[in-house]
Amino acid sequence: MYLLTFSSSAAVLATFFSVVNGANILITNDDGFGTGNIREMYKAMKAYGHNVFIVAPATDQSGKGGSLTYATTANLTEDTEFGLVKAGAPSVGPDPLDDHIWYYDGSPVAAASVGIDYVLPKFGVSSPDVVMSGPNYGDNVGGFAFTSSGTIGATYYAIGRGIPAIAFSAANSASASYKDVNATTSVGLKDPQTIAGELSATFANDLIKKTKGGRVLPLGYGINVNMPDITSATSDNCISPPFVHTRMTGGAWTLGVTYNEATGLFTEREITSESALDVCINGNCYLPSETNLTSTTCKSAVTVFTIDYDAPSGEGSSTLAKIRESLEAFVIHW
Ligand SMILES: *[C@@H]1O[C@H](CO)[C@@H](O)[C@H](O)[C@H]1NC(C)=O
Ligand SMILES: *[C@@H]1O[C@H](CO)[C@@H](O)[C@H](O)[C@H]1NC(C)=O
Ligand SMILES: *[C@@H]1O[C@H](CO)[C@@H](O)[C@H](O)[C@H]1NC(C)=O
Repeated sequence: MYLLTFSSSAAVLATFFSVVNGANILITNDDGFGTGNIREMYKAMKAYGHNVFIVAPATDQSGKGGSLTYATTANLTEDTEFGLVKAGAPSVGPDPLDDHIWYYDGSPVAAASVGIDYVLPKFGVSSPDVVMSGPNYGDNVGGFAFTSSGTIGATYYAIGRGIPAIAFSAANSASASYKDVNATTSVGLKDPQTIAGELSATFANDLIKKTKGGRVLPLGYGINVNMPDITSATSDNCISPPFVHTRMTGGAWTLGVTYNEATGLFTEREITSESALDVCINGNCYLPSETNLTSTTCKSAVTVFTIDYDAPSGEGSSTLAKIRESLEAFVIHW
């Protein structure tokens, strides 16, 4: 158990955190606007009373990281995912059934920027209070995933626009249309996608509730949340994982390639022993790694990050401690 110590500063905290009743929320992801996870998170955030919008890619844009890819034609040349919107429709537009849900034919960062600069202003929202990205199908843990994940890419893009942002991922990797989310599973529990969406919404809502007249997170900071494999399809072994403070590095994976002589193609090869991904430079080196935690326990990893990628001189650590303090009510040390 690690104990935080603070030079108490409620006044400083008050400038960072504000209560926002009915916050303006922009939700995006990399798996696309029609997937179950994002729709379940959207429903749960609306149920908390927030003014929620989805602006997300028209198709699966996994692995795009922070890349900026915009539509090159005014109209879709192919149907969006799950045939929800047909080829020939504009490359950006609302879901036929909900005008707060928009698709855009671009990368996750492009979709986030279209949301911030084009869609939300149409509804009188000059800037969202929080950007939520995900929940991704499959965890985004460690330094390699941080840069390659479109889910996380949309958050560090938003943070660079001055907007507090949280990335959510769950280990469950079976992506599906929102129309195929089941009311209950064969063992009578909620669909894993519903649970991932509700856990994410509860986390964001708890953070918003704790705020008192300012920003949900200080400028330049974001949070990466990774849930473990939610087992509700088959059992109740892991259906309400608590949130735990973690760090990004440690036990993390990256990818290499293997050349296949027969096909002439490269295939990915997972590498789990790269010590560069174990190094602790920033933050609290005593926290468990998000990779280890989510793969070995029924707990959700909560890693606070900044978009100041310079090597630290020690000044950042007290702000980090204050953010962690603001999470204390619902994120535990383990
Ligand atoms: C896009 O489709 C609309 C009809 O939905 C059409 O009026 C318009 O000319 C098309 N634009 C382009 C650039 O093809
Ligand atoms: C919903 O339930 C059906 C029938 O049990 C199952 O085949 C399907 O995979 C489930 N859908 C999802 C998204 O889990
Ligand atoms: C993560 O797990 C690996 C392998 O079990 C271990 O070597 C490493 O120390 C752990 N790191 C952290 C930060 O928990």
